[in-house]
Amino acid sequence: MNARIAPSILSADFSRLDDEIALCVDGGADWIHIDVMDGCFVPNLTFGAKVIETVRKLTSLPLDVHLMVVEPEKYFDSFIGAGANVLTIHQEVSPHLHRQLGRIRELGAAAGCAINPSTPVASVRDVCRDMDLLLIMSVNPGFGGQRFIPRSIDRLREAKAMLDAEGSGATLEVDGGIGRETIAACWKAGADLFVAGNAVFGSADPRAEIGVLRGLCGHEA
Ligand code: DX5
Ligand code: ZN
Repeated sequence: MNARIAPSILSADFSRLDDEIALCVDGGADWIHIDVMDGCFVPNLTFGAKVIETVRKLTSLPLDVHLMVVEPEKYFDSFIGAGANVLTIHQEVSPHLHRQLGRIRELGAAAGCAINPSTPVASVRDVCRDMDLLLIMSVNPGFGGQRFIPRSIDRLREAKAMLDAEGSGATLEVDGGIGRETIAACWKAGADLFVAGNAVFGSADPRAEIGVLRGLCGHEA
């Protein structure tokens, strides 16, 4: 399997979002990552259905929508209607994970579950087969450009072993502080989908950077 790269538009220049998305497409991005924040679960505000709809018009790449919001189920219909392909909800604000993940699938999207750096990996063991994607946060969610938390490597290893043991084919995604210095270790630990905000959009050549990041992951995992 090849490493897949999902540039996060949180770090994009919104005054020329169409160009920024085009750079991702030309650079071979696999997915586009869209960070939805509500100022309640995380101390920052971003965007909602309108922006998802806008990005949908700009690309046919899968839209990976990361909901950093309380009561995420309020948005399932409108976000999927706007063109989201994957909805990832946080364990910490989803007391009925089994039902919520099932609902996302029912609505025709892939269901993802995210956990913060301080949330035990094993807390999502019982829903491993109910999710299509497990997202290990490698920073505390809320902002782009933060430093990768080194302990995340062990957590990825643990998550990979758990998914395998549970017979889940879920994608293992990592988000936060991913760049040239951190991506290879995450790949070796079992991650196969990498969110990169600052590393891509903060680069002098975002298009090339996507390939550089992917190239740092071997093909051995
Ligand atoms: C952080 C978001 C990330 C963010 C990553 O809360 O979930 O997706 O955009 O940005 P970088 O790659 O700059 O750490
Ligand atoms: Zn994210």
